[in-house]
Amino acid sequence: MPRDDAILDPRTSAWSVTTGLEDALAAIPPRSAEDAVLVVPVGEDAAATLAPLTALGLDADLVVATHEPSSTAGAVTTVPLAPGAHPVRRIVLVGSGDGSPRAWRTAGAAVGRATRGRGRVVHAVGDVAGSDGLPAWVESVVLASWTTPRWRSDGAQAGAVPAREVVVTGTDASAAVEHAVVRARAQLVARGLAHTPSNTKNPAWMARQARVVARGAGLDVTVWDERSLRRDGFGGLLAVGGGSATPPRLVRLDHEPVGATATTPRVVLVGKGITFDTGGLQVKPADGMLGMKTDMSGSAVVLAVLAACRALDVRVRVTGLLALAENAVDGASYRPGDVVTHYGGTTVEIGNTDAEGRIVLADALAYADAELDPTWLVDVATLTGAARIALGRVAAPVFANDDALRDALVDAGTSTGETLWPMPLSDTYRRALDSDVADLTHIAPGVGGGAVTAALFLREFVGARRWAHLDIAGTGRSDVDAGTDAKGATGFGTRLLLRWLEEMR
Ligand code: BES
Ligand code: MN
Ligand code: ZN
Repeated sequence: MPRDDAILDPRTSAWSVTTGLEDALAAIPPRSAEDAVLVVPVGEDAAATLAPLTALGLDADLVVATHEPSSTAGAVTTVPLAPGAHPVRRIVLVGSGDGSPRAWRTAGAAVGRATRGRGRVVHAVGDVAGSDGLPAWVESVVLASWTTPRWRSDGAQAGAVPAREVVVTGTDASAAVEHAVVRARAQLVARGLAHTPSNTKNPAWMARQARVVARGAGLDVTVWDERSLRRDGFGGLLAVGGGSATPPRLVRLDHEPVGATATTPRVVLVGKGITFDTGGLQVKPADGMLGMKTDMSGSAVVLAVLAACRALDVRVRVTGLLALAENAVDGASYRPGDVVTHYGGTTVEIGNTDAEGRIVLADALAYADAELDPTWLVDVATLTGAARIALGRVAAPVFANDDALRDALVDAGTSTGETLWPMPLSDTYRRALDSDVADLTHIAPGVGGGAVTAALFLREFVGARRWAHLDIAGTGRSDVDAGTDAKGATGFGTRLLLRWLEEMR
């Protein structure tokens, strides 16, 4: 079985950077050559981009004529070399396409997959990919090298492991590579948590993982159990978690940057943490329920982001709130028609017990507004089937009440390849949330626009804060094992949030 600490500390290659290819090759001990690989990108002028091969005493023109490597982004041509003759046994030529960050991402993913299980892998890429391409490449190699954890009686894990060591050749590339590895590893932490089966992963288990993370990453941590949730009035978390044998939790994690002063801005990140979503009394059909162990992906992303803040030297305060509950079926489950009192007192008429995400988020958002004075407030949630139907895995809808915040998140996502798509917070549908019996009703039946009405509901709890909402219901899960994704949870949103935070200084 993968131990919990393996999920929080995913297996990745040991990465380093060296200036010259000659040095990188000379450092490979002859007995390691059998397992060593040289990776060289192939651009449109193949022979020119293969010039590094002269370091192995090979003629680039001859290699091109013999192997006809493709420059199409991600196309892999493997050139085996005679045993004992060179410091590496294989050259992996990978097409770098048009040289855009997107192409480098595709190429990196192909290399991550092609070099799994290898010993030492030298990437002759640092000075070629440039300042936008290199992080894209490194992140993709790390992500694509990873395979999903397995819970097998014989302890076996998925066949291939990432290459043992990766050496990137490039000038001044160390910080860029190091940060890219940290961001990608954070995404793998989010994935591992979301992959974990729900008979292991309940709210208390997630809170324990948060404590472990906090210890390792220098974060302050506060956990509300069901008693303190009741004491403090978190009626939404208690309602949704009421039907579960494993009660709800709220986790707060705080990153305090070195040298913070009273005026240092604070970002609050809120994650939906439904450790399993049966739909509650309005139970999901069988097909719709399969995969709902990943319904805590938002909280996994928030936890993983907080875990990486120190290593990335994030200069703003960051507070993470994980809204954790299991939406289960039981005599104590909340019911349609119930009136729930949220943190801060707003009352809500329950319209559908399967719309549980917005109920737990409302408590956390109201708490953030009332207690944390956030400069920016961002929530991440596998919130609506409607988001998935509209955009699939192409992009995640982003809703925001502040254009600059929305644009900054969209830009961060463009740079990491996590596409966000702006959607309207249209007041046209606001009245559909009016209730006859409470302050609000929590779904807006009959009007359509399910992702929009969910966002409008959340907006009711953010006060006057600058706020954005990422609906990752579509992008949070992949049904194919391809590119940077493994089949299952993706950890979508982790890197874009980290990029956004890193750039605030
Ligand atoms: N967790 C689901 C949303 C979801 C669906 C995530 C598919 C990933 C894949 C959410 O809790 C839900 O059930 N939403 C309902 C809300 C509806 C009852 C108003 C939905 O979108 O159908
Ligand atoms: Mn649901
Ligand atoms: Zn859900």
